[in-house]
Amino acid sequence: MSGVSVVILDFGSQYTKLIARRVRELRAYSVILPGTATLERILGESPQAVILSGGPRTVFEPSAPMPDPRLYGAGIPLLGICYGMQLLVQHAGGEVRDVGTRSYGADRLERVEGSLFRGIVSGASVWMSHSTAVTALPEGWASLAATATNPNAAVGAPDGRMHGVQFHPEVVHTPSGVKLLDNFLADSDVRRDWTPEASLDRALAYVRERVGSDRVLVGVSGGVDSSALALLLARAKADHVAVLVDHGLLREGERTEVERALHPLGVRLEIVDASAQFLHALRGVVDPEEKRRIIGREFVAAFREVARARGPFRFLAQGTLYPDVIESAGGEGTANIKSHHNVGGLPAELGFELLEPFRTLFKDEVRDVARLLGLPDEIRLRHPFPGPGLAVRILGEITQERLDIVRRADAIFIETLRKRGVYGDAWQALAVLTPIRSVGVAGDERRYGHVVALRAVTSVDAMTADWARLPHDVLDEAAQRITREIPEVGRVVYDITSKPPATIEWE
Ligand code: XMP
Repeated sequence: MSGVSVVILDFGSQYTKLIARRVRELRAYSVILPGTATLERILGESPQAVILSGGPRTVFEPSAPMPDPRLYGAGIPLLGICYGMQLLVQHAGGEVRDVGTRSYGADRLERVEGSLFRGIVSGASVWMSHSTAVTALPEGWASLAATATNPNAAVGAPDGRMHGVQFHPEVVHTPSGVKLLDNFLADSDVRRDWTPEASLDRALAYVRERVGSDRVLVGVSGGVDSSALALLLARAKADHVAVLVDHGLLREGERTEVERALHPLGVRLEIVDASAQFLHALRGVVDPEEKRRIIGREFVAAFREVARARGPFRFLAQGTLYPDVIESAGGEGTANIKSHHNVGGLPAELGFELLEPFRTLFKDEVRDVARLLGLPDEIRLRHPFPGPGLAVRILGEITQERLDIVRRADAIFIETLRKRGVYGDAWQALAVLTPIRSVGVAGDERRYGHVVALRAVTSVDAMTADWARLPHDVLDEAAQRITREIPEVGRVVYDITSKPPATIEWE
């Protein structure tokens, strides 16, 4: 099985996860550790190279997060990015200073040299985001690239083991950044054995090793992560029960689609129809957080019931992904661990041990694993859908009538996007039922109808998003069908807000 090739030390940059993804795209398995991790912890991963991320702090602040000083002499090739570069330079005796002006945005390399820039021509665009710069090089170090205003846009140590770049090679705005990372990995003799097959092998080995002959309960929601998880358990021949709790807030046709897709692949999905309980508990509730709390509670009750009837189970399998478990030593330099539980936030009090075979994978890697496991593309490439379902897409009270409206509007919108070949252009698309009514005309009559908002976004990881510039005629077709086929809807609007300041969902 593939071992770790690259450790990425996180000093709090918003781009750290992107570095890990880029390195994995270059087929080297990478993990992220807090920037302040001890050398023992780093060496525990047996990396062949280490990348030091950027960060929001400056290296000359007294409380700035620092790597273990023994790292510099450990003989491992190091690449520092932005703050990471400045750490290397400061440690080696160079000078880093506040240059007064904040450099933020696209810039151009006027000179490049050395093997780090193999195949990259001068004139290449790079993305900068800093206000401090290397103003004097350590003895023997060389400047490897310059911009019009920064003579030290990339630097290298005399023994060739340490390199630093002031710009961000991991972002798309640095088009030659992937080539630069590729050169660094090649020069460091980093193993490139991280393939989708390797991700699958690792996940299978993890399940077989941890589960043995114990029993596993897996909640399936219809999304790619939980569907792939159920398939993984089946492939690993783990003794498992896969349950889809239908809370009555699913998309149109979702339940049958998931059942149909998983059945031929050896997953016998048990459907628990809890829609009556969920809708009863949600009656009269308008506050979004209250809705989420109720749904979480009802999920627990439904799973408790399954455990009572079909248990005992030792494990509850969840589709937790790598971004949810990464420890970060950014910001104040303190380590914190985020934990995020998928199936409606099922608490440990249920008495299960958590089994999270995808906890080292990014979403696109899970999609690759799902492909290898045979999950059909309709589910594999489906837009994400929130655990609380359509409940957070109905502003105000949830009633059967309002659910039917939003479910149908969502289905029409998605059908239109698929039919017009633009479904894949949006990272997520949805319909929201607003609490607004507006005046319209139908035939000769005045009509006071509901207002439906359509939203489609582009995004990489849902942390930020932009509204999708869908063709006007596609939006027109969706709006016409919605108002024609759902008589209660009198007006359709398109949401043109990015995240931030808005969020993707309306609640
Ligand atoms: P927001 O609305 O926060 O959503 O921009 C980001 C992504 O997360 C999904 N989402 C949720 N998923 N439980 C979930 O499992 C939730 O409570 C929840 N709220 C939002 C949302 O659909 C988007 O993909």
